Amino acid sequence: MQRGAKKYRAGIVGCGRIGSEFDTDPKRKTVSTHAGAYSASDAIELVAVSDLNEEKLVKCGRRWGITSLYQDYKKMLAEQNLDIISICTWNSTHLDIVKEALNNGVKAVFCEKPIADALKNADEMVKRCDEKGVILQIDHQRRFDRVHQSVRDYIQGGKLGNIQQATFYYTAGIANTGSHMLDLLRFFFGDADWVQALYSQVQAPNPDDPNIEGMVKFRNGVFCSLKPCDVSAYNIFEMDCLGTKGRLKITRSGYDLEYYEARESDLFSGYKELFQSKPPLNKDAPREFMTSAVSHLVECLKEGGQSVSSGQDGRAALELICACHESARADGKRITLPLKDSKIRIISR
Ligand SMILES: NC(=O)c1ccc[n+]([C@@H]2O[C@H](COP(=O)([O-])OP(=O)(O)OC[C@H]3O[C@@H](n4cnc5c(N)ncnc54)[C@H](O)[C@@H]3O)[C@@H](O)[C@H]2O)c1
Repeated sequence: MQRGAKKYRAGIVGCGRIGSEFDTDPKRKTVSTHAGAYSASDAIELVAVSDLNEEKLVKCGRRWGITSLYQDYKKMLAEQNLDIISICTWNSTHLDIVKEALNNGVKAVFCEKPIADALKNADEMVKRCDEKGVILQIDHQRRFDRVHQSVRDYIQGGKLGNIQQATFYYTAGIANTGSHMLDLLRFFFGDADWVQALYSQVQAPNPDDPNIEGMVKFRNGVFCSLKPCDVSAYNIFEMDCLGTKGRLKITRSGYDLEYYEARESDLFSGYKELFQSKPPLNKDAPREFMTSAVSHLVECLKEGGQSVSSGQDGRAALELICACHESARADGKRITLPLKDSKIRIISR
């Protein structure tokens, strides 16, 4: 940013964990919140924050040095002439906040996942932002990470060979962490053809957002199994992808990779086996999901164009969540995509 250049004015609705609080965790080594990422940006000034909960609001203001604090986000939007709004509240509130933000002239919306509580509400968010030329970026944050981008390029470039199988292990509900999983699968494999799913016996922490076992068939022919685990036992967010040339695992919530190469077996003549090798991708590249997301948003504002994590992408992840529920409710019936609409209401907190 040139010295003296005007900064974008940003505000946040929701001063909870992803809005502000994750950055108080001493174990987190990188910026992990919207407030932290705006504060670290030299192109943006975080000018105001809003939360219904006064205690959270005051704590957030104190932590990031913000004095314009609002319990009513509508008042914040009316008074603060914001260029960017972050929506860090529960998904049932996202559409109303988007509508109000558009009425008050924001240029970019950075919205938490899942995009909305219902497909028709997601469609309305996308349509309204498109009509006003407002950028809508959804925080499926691995899309902004260089390592996940290089995994996508590696898979799509055929370097792993033909993909034979993918399995994804996740925890904490199909709409909560499952939203990241389903979005990432689309990022790697493209749009899905159909879904078959069952409610899992493995408990999720929020009874409104159950774990779901499933199978997604992608249009490129890949089948992926969705495998939930109990987050109270341990956290797991891992993909295991087997191509004809090797096997690539994304482990430790996306912070690590394992790679196995198919080579001549030393046990059986005429066969190859998988041998663990150095990952062909630089997994040690700087890993800054949130600050990368905000830098990308600034690029979109300056240069025009859609985010790599657009409203349509957010809608597609929500569509997969709804399809998983529709299938599980019908005892594993195959649900063909796309879904124009769905009666499913998604509660994610
Ligand atoms: N991208 C990620 O990795 C990630 C991580 C955590 C949470 N999330 C998502 O972010 C959203 C929020 O989750 P959280 O864990 O931070 O929740 P949280 O409960 O910690 O924070 C949400 C905050 O929003 C406030 N709020 C709710 N309605 C409001 C309104 N109308 N006006 C002002 N404030 C309001 C609440 O008081 C609360 O403080 C959820 O959609 C969740 O799925 C995403």
